[in-house]
Amino acid sequence: MGEEGKHHADYSNVTGLSKEETLQHIIDSYEALASDTTNWVANLSNCSSLVWHAYHSLNVPVNWAGFYVKNGEKNELILGPFQGKVACQIIQIGKGVCGTAAHSKETQLVPDVEKFPGHIACDGETKSEIVVPLVKEGKILAVLDIDCLALDGFDESDKKFLEELAVLIVRTCEWQF
Ligand code: SME
Repeated sequence: MGEEGKHHADYSNVTGLSKEETLQHIIDSYEALASDTTNWVANLSNCSSLVWHAYHSLNVPVNWAGFYVKNGEKNELILGPFQGKVACQIIQIGKGVCGTAAHSKETQLVPDVEKFPGHIACDGETKSEIVVPLVKEGKILAVLDIDCLALDGFDESDKKFLEELAVLIVRTCEWQF
């Protein structure tokens, strides 16, 4: 590691930061960690952990944080690295919140999942959700999905920082599916 005496797990320890500082911490930590490897499994795994711990430090009850990746040439997403409970493995592009983000290549900010037509309930306790697409040269590679046990879990500032994170992830990973 670059910083002397710092353990990898220390990146997950966030306390006493504002929301914006915490979201920036995710980005800075991801960038530092990704300087070690371009492997997408390693980077998406650590990113899921960073997101999980950062939101929990803000007392946002995130119950799932992770990725669905494009399944080769198929018109579907497949479960990737994540933190949280077991989730559905395959999502058709165009279906659910994740599939809609992948199809439109636009972030889906969902304050109440019950009001999103076609929402796929991997966990019946989820109340709100944000899904950010990872796009390279116009093609969908993956989506970052974060679920929350509270309504209105995410807002425009989450969208802004997570979209910046998505650009960084696309740039720092070699994508081999
Ligand atoms: N709710 C998502 C499915 C993924 S799980 O929440 C982890 C959707 O509607 O696409």
